[in-house]
Amino acid sequence: MFTPIEFVLEGKAKEGDEVSLRGWVHRSRSSGGLAFVVVRDASGVMQCAVKKGVVPETDFEAAGKAFIESAVEVYGTVKRDERAPGGWELQATRFKLTHQGEAFPITEDQSVEFLLDKRHLWLRSQKLTSVMKARHYIVKYLRDFFDEQGFWELSPPIITKSGCEGGSTLFELDYFGEKAYLTQSGQLYNEAFITSLEKVFILAPSFRAEKSRTNKHLTEYWHLEEEAAHFDNEDNMRLQEELVSSVARGLVENNSKLLKNFGRKPEDLMAIEPPFYRMKYDEAVEKCGIEWGEDFGVPQEELLTSGLEKPVFITNFPAKIKPFYMETTLDGKYALNADLLAPEGHGEIIGGSQRVWEYDKLVARMRAAGLDLKDYEWYLDLRRYGSVPHSGFGLGVERLVKWLLNLEHIRDAVPFPRVINRAYP
Ligand code: 4AD
Ligand code: MG
Repeated sequence: MFTPIEFVLEGKAKEGDEVSLRGWVHRSRSSGGLAFVVVRDASGVMQCAVKKGVVPETDFEAAGKAFIESAVEVYGTVKRDERAPGGWELQATRFKLTHQGEAFPITEDQSVEFLLDKRHLWLRSQKLTSVMKARHYIVKYLRDFFDEQGFWELSPPIITKSGCEGGSTLFELDYFGEKAYLTQSGQLYNEAFITSLEKVFILAPSFRAEKSRTNKHLTEYWHLEEEAAHFDNEDNMRLQEELVSSVARGLVENNSKLLKNFGRKPEDLMAIEPPFYRMKYDEAVEKCGIEWGEDFGVPQEELLTSGLEKPVFITNFPAKIKPFYMETTLDGKYALNADLLAPEGHGEIIGGSQRVWEYDKLVARMRAAGLDLKDYEWYLDLRRYGSVPHSGFGLGVERLVKWLLNLEHIRDAVPFPRVINRAYP
């Protein structure tokens, strides 16, 4: 039986207990007859003291031969030691090299590009390990929220003929001689479910052939999309702020130790509570000094969110700069929509709207957008039989992770980032 390191660090073992650890060498140093091997497992790191004469000679030699990231098993007794990381040390009685392996290629001060080339190995770093754990909890709290609110989780197709967010970011596929695309959004499929299950969500990859090199854009990202019958744009925004704040609260209540790795204080995240700020597009445009009809870029997003402790909804964009499916004011001028901008310039984390639910209006909007209606016949059917007003939104999981953990770059919010110049490893 092997003990998770966390078990010891949390004080669940008593001094003098015999413990077996199984993990990988985080770092090691030796002087004379004593080797300190810091061992890492999925739960934490712990220093092991391997002493000549205490362990068999072959075990002592094995400790000297271990590389960083060699796989090891260590047996011994635990002892409190304030100088050791985490305050505990294992005094080894046996040390076994399961796999010595080769010298680990990642050493200190490597370039960003090198670390991305070796991403499959860099994932073992303390930083990325913490991010992946936090991401696990964030995804869990997102799902938990919807589950508690009575939403059904569904799975959309990834290969589609119906683009959703404009032609310029579509990844085209040769589908046995026919044109198809990697999905940009599962929204249109989500809309098919609202007449059977009423309140639904999906968590699936979306793809965008984004040519922009920013710290917020991936070409493949995880998209959490919600859709609900009978919801208007106000209901939609309320649901979004409850969702986002429930995740922040979950992290504070259950993962405070993890948050410390990111310099996030509990009060930073507790401030993220409803109601979020709301600002109409027209007012935001004025504040930013851009032309009516222009979209916000990075500098404008920073201006609109600087100094805020929680996100702001920018509502009622000009309909002409938003997709065909967004419901509008009666005069057709403004969309009934909201983009949710995170504080500190982390950018848009959610895009949502009320949907055009009447057949004639939808057809007119699609024609105006230059869409080929035959690829959307099925979607138009949804407006032919029992259509009702409804709303929905899409949240970029990596954007949310980046913001909540205050990461520099979105690529660190996902294990194997896909960006314009990288689809390897
Ligand atoms: O604003 P977007 O394009 O909206 C939609 O796709 C809607 N169909 C969603 C819906 O209503 N069901 O994308 C939604 C969110 C953005 O707010 C952003 O968080 C994220 O998806 N996103 C990206 N994340 C990472 N990399 C990219 N290239 C992204 N593009 C959008
Ligand atoms: Mg958007």
